[in-house]
Amino acid sequence: MYEIKTAAVIGAGTMGLGIAGQLANAGIDVVLLDVPVEGPNRNAVTERAIERLLDRNQPGLLHKDLLRHITTGNIEDDMERISTVDWIAEAVVERLDVKKALYRQIDAVRKTGSIVSSNTSTIPISLLVADMPESFRKEFAITHFFNPVRYMRLLELVQGEDTRTGVVRCLEVFCDKKLGKGVVVCNDTPGFLGNRVGVYAIQKALHTAFDMGLAPEQADAVFGRPLGIPKTGVFGLYDLIGIDLMSDVVKSLESILPENDAFHAVAARIPVMDRMIDAGLVGNKGGKGGFYRTAGDGVGRETLDVDTFEYRDYAPCKPRAAVDAELSGDFTGLLGLDDAFGAYAWEVLSHTLCYAASLVPQVNESLVAVDDAMKLGYNWIQGPFEMIDAIGVDRFIARLEEENRHVPEFVQTAAGKSFYRVHGGGLQFLLANGHYRNLLRAPGVIRFGEERRKLAPLDENSVASYFGLDDDIGLVEFHSKANTLDGESMRLLERAVHHASDNMAGLVIHNDAQHFSCGVNLESVLGFIVAEDWEGLDRFLGHFQQTVLAMKHAPVPVVAAPSGLSLGGGFEVVLHADKVICHANSVTGLVETLVGLVPGGGGVKEMLYRWSERHGDVAKGAWSAFMNIGYGRTARSPVEAETLAMFRTGVDDYVMNRDRLLAAAKDAVLELADGYAPVRRAPLPMPGRDTWHEMREWLGAALEKGRLTPHDVSTGAQIAMIVTGGDIDAGTELTENELCDLERKAFLTLARSTETRARIEFMLEHGTPLRN
Ligand code: NAI
Repeated sequence: MYEIKTAAVIGAGTMGLGIAGQLANAGIDVVLLDVPVEGPNRNAVTERAIERLLDRNQPGLLHKDLLRHITTGNIEDDMERISTVDWIAEAVVERLDVKKALYRQIDAVRKTGSIVSSNTSTIPISLLVADMPESFRKEFAITHFFNPVRYMRLLELVQGEDTRTGVVRCLEVFCDKKLGKGVVVCNDTPGFLGNRVGVYAIQKALHTAFDMGLAPEQADAVFGRPLGIPKTGVFGLYDLIGIDLMSDVVKSLESILPENDAFHAVAARIPVMDRMIDAGLVGNKGGKGGFYRTAGDGVGRETLDVDTFEYRDYAPCKPRAAVDAELSGDFTGLLGLDDAFGAYAWEVLSHTLCYAASLVPQVNESLVAVDDAMKLGYNWIQGPFEMIDAIGVDRFIARLEEENRHVPEFVQTAAGKSFYRVHGGGLQFLLANGHYRNLLRAPGVIRFGEERRKLAPLDENSVASYFGLDDDIGLVEFHSKANTLDGESMRLLERAVHHASDNMAGLVIHNDAQHFSCGVNLESVLGFIVAEDWEGLDRFLGHFQQTVLAMKHAPVPVVAAPSGLSLGGGFEVVLHADKVICHANSVTGLVETLVGLVPGGGGVKEMLYRWSERHGDVAKGAWSAFMNIGYGRTARSPVEAETLAMFRTGVDDYVMNRDRLLAAAKDAVLELADGYAPVRRAPLPMPGRDTWHEMREWLGAALEKGRLTPHDVSTGAQIAMIVTGGDIDAGTELTENELCDLERKAFLTLARSTETRARIEFMLEHGTPLRN
């Protein structure tokens, strides 16, 4: 009965703007209203706000053209415009009086059958709608998005006593399918789930660091990637959110949580942080720094010494066990360390896990909701209950008992068992009554991380695995750090293509990691360079090229289903798939020039074919490939990728919800498999020497004007050589294999340069390209 086709968002601040942007991304027309401004342009607040959606660093839109879906206005002159919309999302300041006054205004104009929701983080639904008529209460819910709305996957959905099931169901489906969110239905309890556990964890990490006298670097070396938590760490996260804002969040949670809640033990203000706020050291946004700041040279980092209140050099101090934990994804070794790092890891994590466990079943009946909230809202790799399972429930209990600590009832229930188990071929989770329930996701939602628990790989090595899914679909999963690719990854892929060709309907390349693949493993490339093993490097590239070509020419369809980053070699794999189904926030690009190299895994060839087809002219295609690869252009959505010929409209596709990627890819394989025949491409008549000269002249001119460095010119010249064929007659035909040979030759020429080596070393050390 309820259906959302149009929407209004009221409040054009951080959250309202993000919600409006995501609605536009979904192709939904949205009216965005805020307070009017005195003066000639009464809509100035919203008009200025929407410019922020185009922010280069964190664009709220998949493409700037989607701005056409948003119209702006103000709540005095334009309220009538919400009378026709299906969903009115309120995202004004967190003040009950303001929200209540607004609801009266909304109810006076909205149509019956429209849904109203609030983005409140802290105000109970019962208070929000206390004075509103029943008709309004029935169509009202809380939709709690996370910031930034486009990127954070969690949506907490809260229904009031009177909210109709149809309203909840409509929001659930709409926010999942259209807005791409992982919807977690929460009870109307303070902080819901994400912030309740997330802010507790941050506060516990902060207080423990101060209590133990740990420096920020020491705490962050543990409370970050090694524990499967975002790499900012706790002090870095405080800087990112803003020390003042975080203090307000803590204060507000403190005011709404029951008196006996364990949160109060970690909510006290830390005096030095008040001093920091007074001194304007509020974190990244303030420009003056926070716990950390950028050093005067603009590259290095400095840390605030909380005793002297002076900045000193940043002193990285990651213990070996933390590095191992990060690489292996197994944090449990850290907890057993017999030093301050181990003590810190255990103290913070064990309290956080106990706190999360204390919320089941009173705050939420399902542990899956708690795990999902932390994974989707706080980007934890594992949820609290998955982490207790990884430690082992009995070991966890034993250690708590050893320390005379209270064991939460729900953890006691799990004694001798685990919170999740595979049973009868399906995944199940534990309920507070000690029984298990099947973990059933919505139709079309498959998380490969969950699926994998039920499967044994058909083939695997340390960096990749190959599985057989139902319907005879093979799946290749990369699982190295950042999913970088090396010889082993490609050998596994080669064997999987071979196996799938004979035994499967088709192949999907997918993983559930943050990034599909950040490219070829630069450490292994550097290894060849340092050893001057040019033949070995040539063989590695040749094998890479032949593997992706074998994938392309396989007798069964191959569908790539990436999310997160697909860069360099990772994107070269994607480029050779018959079809790509990616997540809407995927970032793609051939970025090899940033380290002084050129794509050497068939990427230049693919882009040359694509641009030539798009322009209907190989010389024009060569120029487009030359410019885009030369500048290492990336696309931050499939819509942007389409403009860069990295995404083929009519062939490739994208989904808004990352959890729907695998099911869509499987469907695509089955659809393609019917009567499938691989495409063999005709040789390409190359532009030849005239275009080659023109490109080199262009590079020379750009160098003279200071727009390119000498090394940019060297890489550019190599790309020019590949895309034109170099010193050959125009129209000379080159096969895919001959183009691959040119790529390898160019790659090897550049790999021999000391400048390239320096760039690779800089990248490996700093995690960011050397820019000069
Ligand atoms: P904000 O301060 O960035 O923006 C609030 C906007 O509401 C301002 O543009 C203001 O002019 C406008 N406004 C105030 N009264 C209004 C009225 N009567 N009619 C129309 N517009 C009005 O606030 P933010 O951060 O976007 O928060 C909005 C809501 O979302 C709050 O309820 C907050 O608790 C919640 N929230 C905030 C998150 C965050 O990370 N900032 C995360 C999740 C929820």
